Amino acid sequence: MVGGAGRVASPRIEALIARMTLAEKAGQLSCFNDEIRPVGAVFNPVVSPRGAEAMLADIRAGRVGMLFNGYGVAGARRAQAAALESRLGIPLVFAADVLHGCRTIFPIPLAEAAAFDPDLSRRAARAVARETTANGIHWTFAPMVDVARDQRWGRVAEGAGEDVLLNCLLASARVEGFQGPDLTKPDALLATPKHFVGYGAVRGGMEYAAVDMSMAALRETFVPPFAAAFAAGAGATMASFTDFNGVPVSANRPLLTNLLRGDLRFDGVCVSDYDADRELIAHGIAADEADAARLAILAGIDMSMQSGLYQRHLSALVEAGQVPIAAVDQAVRRVLILKERLGLFDDPYRSLDPRAERRETGSKAVRDMARTVATRSIVLLRNDGDLLPIARRGKKLALIGPFGADRANLNGPWCFAGDSARGIDLATGLRGAMGDPASLIVEAGSGITEPLPGGIERAVAAARAADIVLLAIGEGADMSGEGNSRVEITVPAAQQALAEAIAATGTPVVVLLRHGRALALTGAVRDAPALLATWFLGEQTGPAVADILFGAVEPTARLPVSFPLATGQQPWSYDRRSTGRPAPDAEPMAAGRSHWRDAADRALYPFGSGMGYTRFALSDLQVPATIAAGAIVPVSVRVRNVGTRRGEALVRLDVHDRVASRTRPARQMKAFQRVTLAAGDETRVELRIAADALALVTGDGRWQIEPGMFDLWVDAGAGTEIAGAFRLE
Ligand code: BGC
Repeated sequence: MVGGAGRVASPRIEALIARMTLAEKAGQLSCFNDEIRPVGAVFNPVVSPRGAEAMLADIRAGRVGMLFNGYGVAGARRAQAAALESRLGIPLVFAADVLHGCRTIFPIPLAEAAAFDPDLSRRAARAVARETTANGIHWTFAPMVDVARDQRWGRVAEGAGEDVLLNCLLASARVEGFQGPDLTKPDALLATPKHFVGYGAVRGGMEYAAVDMSMAALRETFVPPFAAAFAAGAGATMASFTDFNGVPVSANRPLLTNLLRGDLRFDGVCVSDYDADRELIAHGIAADEADAARLAILAGIDMSMQSGLYQRHLSALVEAGQVPIAAVDQAVRRVLILKERLGLFDDPYRSLDPRAERRETGSKAVRDMARTVATRSIVLLRNDGDLLPIARRGKKLALIGPFGADRANLNGPWCFAGDSARGIDLATGLRGAMGDPASLIVEAGSGITEPLPGGIERAVAAARAADIVLLAIGEGADMSGEGNSRVEITVPAAQQALAEAIAATGTPVVVLLRHGRALALTGAVRDAPALLATWFLGEQTGPAVADILFGAVEPTARLPVSFPLATGQQPWSYDRRSTGRPAPDAEPMAAGRSHWRDAADRALYPFGSGMGYTRFALSDLQVPATIAAGAIVPVSVRVRNVGTRRGEALVRLDVHDRVASRTRPARQMKAFQRVTLAAGDETRVELRIAADALALVTGDGRWQIEPGMFDLWVDAGAGTEIAGAFRLE
């Protein structure tokens, strides 16, 4: 029998399905928040809690297929023992939202995306998987692969930002890293690219709002990262909470069956989001719980999360003829195949070894990787007069702002098993790297959203006494992530006032921005001579920032999201389509062209912005004049380090399709490549545009390559761009 688009179930699974009662089938299709291993703060609201003993009884009765968001081997062994006592002894699978580390917290995924380094993301996901599986978890609800072009949406923090290619590369790298080469191995962590599909385009950036978009936009921008993750072997996906073109995804058969199973040939498990099937009632699509369960299973939701709707209603729906048994069996088959792929039937206690838990939790290897990723996630956006790097000794530094000596805001959203007390704050990290730690003064100056009594006065005095101010300001950890959309994506007013007062002292300021999204910077923050995007970097924040500030490590990251001129430009992305009246970037703005009255159609720091401590120059661009359709476009360019330090260039290639049957992005990244060069050295870098990367989606949803002229630009940082063109035959 076929378990989805082509996956064949083993005789063991078919024999089990033949023996299962309807209630046992509904049990395999139901998953619940782990109350046997309860953790403190998880984002999700509490829905019908039952306590550990009742949950164990449910498991013994065969009424539960998966538990999520618990960790720890001892509790998992208790739960698994209960599952093995059930009539058919089908093992449980344990899942969790491990987006950027389990016990050791890594930078948020958006920060890691700034590294522009799929290989690093793959290695980071592998390190996270080792620690996570050692803590009794087999399956992560990650990576989040929603393309996010509206910075008001709080969940921008969880993904790889606004660009399609970067999202695709990191989606496959993260899936490969989590799952490893062999899913049956105890350190393999099943991946769940989510949320299928289009969630990033919620109206106004507001959490859980409706999504309306053309099918061409869906397929061209939002589907490709899922396709990449599936091609990398992802074993599961999660349906989006949101209403898509009038039908919530949890009830949307064209998306969950025709697109997901048909076009994309996905054969893994599709799990609902948390309570999302029951939310069909609030959406006004289902009359009651039974109706909601019916809509969800018929649309293609295999597993119902937390609502208990399948547990309570599936059997009756089948008996009443409202849901064909074949639909239920197909979902059960997929869930059992997932458990079999993980090796759980052969070893129900895989990943439940207390020795591995002790060995891997917070191991040196995982902490070192967290630091490497943190350092490579920091984006240097401005460095007037080479203010950075700072000498390790001989300078008096004032670390000012609410994040200077703070550990509560290092981690950012979704780290249910992390311990913020283990994090290394900025002050500690900087002192550890300074030749004379006593020359660092620390002054909060302000709270995150509220002023501190006398705070600005004390901070101004500290700034006056210092050679350089390090201003650690931005968003608190609870200002981005799920449920934390913002109407204004600015630095909170109390901190902006602090920044203005510090700037007025005349002491040079290095802004260390803390954030889970791109921000609209204004005034003294925007105009500071040096600016570093430092996101939420996790446990290793302090040492990573010190590595960059003092120049032990060269900044190599680039923005995965554009920093706008103002919030009102959202949604915005660098690869927007040009209008019939495009406005050149030059100001003052031309009348009757596409711009706002009070802002141009450009970003303050567009996607890809970022620099290092050296500079590069490009020359001798080589592009073939004509390319056969379907062939790889080979492009090469000479790169020279024209600065005085060794450094890493990120050479990027964008294209624009001059004339096509549908309007095309003004420019869109198609390839990038890194190269490290000593001062004065030069090399030739090759970039290859994949054969299908020049295709577009037609109005009826097909990918199509159209011949004609393409413009092309290559750059290695601001001011280095060279242009070319080629004809596609
Ligand atoms: C989120 C998902 C998450 C799920 C389980 C939901 O609120 O949207 O991303 O995986 O909860 O915790």
